[in-house]
Amino acid sequence: MIPSPITLILFASSCLGAMFTHSGDLPKREYDFVVVAGAAGAVIASRLTENSRISVLLLEAGGSNENVLDSMVPAFAGLMAPGTIWDWNFTSTPQTAINNRSVAAARGFMLGGSTSINFMVYTRGSAEDFDRYAEITGDKGWSWDRLQPYIRKVRTASAGARLALNFSSVPQNERFLSPPRDQHIEPAPQFNPRVHSFNGINTVSLEGFPKDINGRVIQTVRDFHSDFPFNLDMNSGNHLGVGWVQATVNKGVRSSSAISYLAPSIMKRSNLHVLLNARVTRANGKPSKGGKLTFNSVQYTENGGKTSQTVSANKEIILCAGAMMTPHILLHSGIGDSPTLKALGIPPVHHLPSVGQNFSDQPSLRNQWLVNSTDTQETIAQNATFTTEQLDRWRRTKTGPLVDPPNSFLGWLRLPDKAAIFQRFRDPTPGPRTAHFEFIIANGLLSRSTPATGNFLRFGTAVVQPISRGSVSIKSTNPLDPPVIDYRLLTSEYDVVVLREAFRRSNQFLSHPVWKDYLLKPPTNATTDEEIDLYIRANAGPMNHPVGSCSMSSRSAKYGVVDPDLKVKGVDGLRIVDASIFPVTPTAHTQAPVYIIAERAADLIKATWWH
Ligand SMILES: Cc1cc2nc3c(=O)[nH]c(=O)nc-3n(C[C@H](O)[C@H](O)[C@H](O)COP(=O)(O)OP(=O)(O)OC[C@H]3O[C@@H](n4cnc5c(N)ncnc54)[C@H](O)[C@@H]3O)c2cc1C
Ligand SMILES: *[C@@H]1O[C@H](CO)[C@@H](O)[C@H](O)[C@H]1NC(C)=O
Ligand SMILES: *[C@@H]1O[C@H](CO)[C@@H](O)[C@H](O)[C@H]1NC(C)=O
Ligand SMILES: *[C@@H]1O[C@H](CO)[C@@H](O)[C@H](O)[C@H]1NC(C)=O
Ligand SMILES: *[C@@H]1O[C@H](CO)[C@@H](O)[C@H](O)[C@H]1NC(C)=O
Ligand SMILES: *[C@@H]1O[C@H](CO)[C@@H](O)[C@H](O)[C@H]1NC(C)=O
Ligand SMILES: *[C@@H]1O[C@H](CO)[C@@H](O)[C@H](O)[C@H]1NC(C)=O
Ligand SMILES: *[C@@H]1O[C@H](CO)[C@@H](O)[C@H](O)[C@H]1NC(C)=O
Repeated sequence: MIPSPITLILFASSCLGAMFTHSGDLPKREYDFVVVAGAAGAVIASRLTENSRISVLLLEAGGSNENVLDSMVPAFAGLMAPGTIWDWNFTSTPQTAINNRSVAAARGFMLGGSTSINFMVYTRGSAEDFDRYAEITGDKGWSWDRLQPYIRKVRTASAGARLALNFSSVPQNERFLSPPRDQHIEPAPQFNPRVHSFNGINTVSLEGFPKDINGRVIQTVRDFHSDFPFNLDMNSGNHLGVGWVQATVNKGVRSSSAISYLAPSIMKRSNLHVLLNARVTRANGKPSKGGKLTFNSVQYTENGGKTSQTVSANKEIILCAGAMMTPHILLHSGIGDSPTLKALGIPPVHHLPSVGQNFSDQPSLRNQWLVNSTDTQETIAQNATFTTEQLDRWRRTKTGPLVDPPNSFLGWLRLPDKAAIFQRFRDPTPGPRTAHFEFIIANGLLSRSTPATGNFLRFGTAVVQPISRGSVSIKSTNPLDPPVIDYRLLTSEYDVVVLREAFRRSNQFLSHPVWKDYLLKPPTNATTDEEIDLYIRANAGPMNHPVGSCSMSSRSAKYGVVDPDLKVKGVDGLRIVDASIFPVTPTAHTQAPVYIIAERAADLIKATWWH
């Protein structure tokens, strides 16, 4: 049959290179590896298809990231979620310790996963975080030192980062702190090139446009250095102190895992297929000779469950659906606590009671201070003329205030060693060079709920090594039902005490005279412990850094979901590579740690199959 012009057009619009939007267009039903979505999924698909003899299918429930303006413009990050077409729109169960509030649990619903909707903060965590993973798993390969080659595979040659060494070039490129209007701060180094690589795949760079608050933060850190020391580079392994944000931004545009690891040069590989709008419902296994289950196919639906498709994986299925959806897929596949699954009506195929357990997120407060300024992110929502001008500038030159994501500085800080709380709780940090709490400092925040008037300093505070643990579970046999997400946020009294202390320390930071004419109204008038706790319980929420629901543990451990090679314990053909495998949260915003484990996982997979 000779195709009519109409079918040609239809075909062209549904098939961009090896990117498919309809299951019917997939040229085959059998691949070596089937990878399910995610930030890490793009890494795995990209690295495995470096070998042209290996075929990989990447399945993603959401749509394409291409030409999604709000995803590309860093300053628009806060518009991506919650409650948009790019979000799964999950909400938590009522959280008992925060006045029974249900909170939004944002998750990216598009290629690149949450890296296509996140705030782009790039933090690796502390060296002690990774050394603890090595200790928990009994695999030295997870230690900070041994992971360095993978860390460096990620970090890149952004023009911005290279220019960063040339401090004299500040005026032309607007990448550095220029002297704020009211005080003189000389351009000073903002990162340490020795701990970075300049030829990786995913671009990371420094702030590109100076913010109203920068000079004040730097001045405070100088004068209050014994309490808030400056850290030139929080990604060196020793993250304590206050420093400049590094972000996954490439010359003013978001660099997600889809943009970097699935760039056009990679998508043209004939051994890599990507299918969008494909929601995985379960993985199927069959008993092999020894009786062990071997997983070798994946079921998915592309039209709200009306039809079910199956695709085979000859070698492995790699789940990268994230800390909320990977356990959901496992449970619907019959992998979990067998009695619980049976009671629900799902035939158990493999008893693994840790699936969905030990789930955690970092409790945080977005403290908003009303400020004496019109030069904050809120202006983008409030002044259409300004935004039209700046968007035009961004489109033409990739300069101006839209080139940066919201956060400018982070602080990683500890409680005093002798803090009273340690008489009641064991210090949950992996060592003395890892933070208990964090400051997240932003020159305002653009979001879908930005008020019509008022400009704010957003001085976030968070517990970055919480003790509370929750769970992800399911409540029906329907795989299209959302997971049941229970953070159990702040259910440990320790977390409340640390969040209270973090809030007090933020007030101490802002007591420097440099903030005096700037801050007009505090986020709360609470001052006593009791008042601050009321404020906390009324306002705290998760950081959107969920981890732990499919924890990695040592080969001999009686708990855990994956072994140190990230293979699901007790079965064959199934691996997990996403934020769910961290046995404890990294003391970080989680994307960089996920990129790091994904790079190593790709090598572990190659070591299994490349002969
Ligand atoms: C609003 C927000 C802001 C954040 N800000 C930062 C930040 O500034 N810095 C930082 O380091 N981290 C940040 N994070 C966290 C970071 O983005 C994640 O840690 C990172 O993306 C890895 O997450 P993950 O492994 O859980 O999977 P995700 O990246 O969430 O990927 C999961 C993928 O699986 C897909 N999927 C799920 N279920 C199915 C299914 N059944 N079938 C097919 N596909 C499926 C999803 O659509 C998604 O693409 C943020 C997250 C959010 C939500
Ligand atoms: C999330 O909610 C928005 C707004 O209601 C909706 O448009 C979008 O389709 C929802 N996302 C998903 C994955 O259902
Ligand atoms: C939360 O809900 C539980 C159960 O419904 C109830 O016992 C408790 O009093 C509620 N707590 C608050 C603070 O409202
Ligand atoms: C600094 O700029 C000069 C001139 O543009 C360039 O040749 C040099 O490579 C730059 N230095 C670094 C370390 O990138
Ligand atoms: C949760 O993690 C701890 C170790 O931190 C472990 O002892 C426990 O068994 C885990 N629980 C489950 C249900 O996996
Ligand atoms: C809005 O932005 C325009 C262009 O930058 C500026 O001229 C104007 O003063 C702003 N309006 C207000 C109310 O700040
Ligand atoms: C706001 O700042 C200006 C200087 O920029 C100052 O004159 C004014 O008094 C400040 N307003 C308040 C309410 O502090
Ligand atoms: C704080 O302000 C609220 C009103 O916003 C008021 O009801 C409350 O009494 C104040 N608390 C204190 C301790 O001043």
